[in-house]
Amino acid sequence: MRQLFTTILILPAFLLLLAALAADRWVSLQDDGLHDPANPAIKILQQPAEALSVLQPDGAGNGVNWVTALQLGEIDPRSSIENEIQQEMLELDVIMTDTLPLPYVIFSHRPHVEWMTCDLCHESVFVSKIGENPMNMGNILNGEYCGVCHGAVSFPLTECNRCHSVKPENINIAPSSGAIVERDPL
Ligand code: HEC
Ligand code: HEC
Ligand code: HEC
Repeated sequence: MRQLFTTILILPAFLLLLAALAADRWVSLQDDGLHDPANPAIKILQQPAEALSVLQPDGAGNGVNWVTALQLGEIDPRSSIENEIQQEMLELDVIMTDTLPLPYVIFSHRPHVEWMTCDLCHESVFVSKIGENPMNMGNILNGEYCGVCHGAVSFPLTECNRCHSVKPENINIAPSSGAIVERDPL
C-alpha cells in the first residue's frame, strides 16, 4: 500500500520533470542571438518549444524526427514558395561498404526525395552514378557530399548509427524502401 502511495506521488513529479527538460531543449526566441529581445513584436511570434514539442521527438539535432513527422502527416510542407511542383519519387537505396570498422551506410532516395527535388543533389553534390563520388568521413565532416546538409539543415554527423546502420551480416535484410545497389569500395 505504502509503495503504491509513493508511486502515485512520484509519478506526476517525474512527468513534470520530463516536461520541463523537454521545454529546455529549445532556446527561446529572446535568447537565440538572432531575434531582438527588446522588440515588442517578439511576443506575437510562436516559440520553438511550442511549435516543435508537439512533433515526433528525437534526441538529436533540433529535437524533432522530421522523417517520421512527415510520414505520420504531422507536417505537410509546401513543395515550393511559389507554385506547387510535382516531386519525383525514386525507390533506390545505395549501400556504401567502405566504412571499416563501422556498419555500412545505407543511403535511401525515398526519405530524401520526399523533401527535395533531384536537382538539389544531382549533379552538383553527387554525380548520379553509383560509385562515382569519392566520399569519405573526412570530406563529409568538411561539409562535402552528405555533409552539405547533415550537420547543417538535417540531423548532425554525431549521429553515426543513423547512417552507419547496416551490419555487413545483415546486408540481405536491410530495411529498404526499394531496390538496393551495393557500392563497391573506391
Ligand atoms: C550523414 C551520414 C553519415 C554520418 C552521420 C556518419 N557517417 Fe561515416 N561515412 C558516411 C559515408 C557516406 C561514408 C563513405 C562510405 C563509402 O564510401 O563506402 C562514411 C565512412 C566512414 C568511415 C570509413 C573511413 C573513412 O574515413 O571514410 C568511418 C570510419 C566513419 N564513416 C565513421 C563515422 C563516425 C565515427 C561517425 C559519427 C561520429 C560517422 N561516420 C557518421 C556517412 C556518414
Ligand atoms: C539527397 C541527395 C540526393 C537526391 C535528392 C537524389 N539523389 Fe540520386 N543519388 C544520390 C546518391 C548519394 C547516389 C549514390 C552515388 C554514389 O554511389 O556515388 C545517387 C545515385 C543516383 C543514381 C545512380 C544510379 C546508378 O545505378 O548508377 C541515379 C540515376 C539517381 N541517383 C537519380 C536520382 C533521381 C531521379 C532523383 C530525384 C527523384 C535523385 N536521384 C535524388 C543522392 C541523391
Ligand atoms: C541536399 C541535402 C542532403 C544531402 C546531400 C544528404 N541528405 Fe540525408 N537527409 C536530408 C534531409 C533533409 C533528411 C530528412 C530530415 C532529417 O532526418 O534530418 C535526411 C535524412 C536522412 C536519413 C534518415 C532517413 C530515415 O529514414 O530516417 C539518412 C540515413 C540520411 N539522410 C543519410 C544520408 C547520407 C548517407 C547522405 C550522403 C550519401 C545524405 N543523407 C545526404 C538531407 C540531405
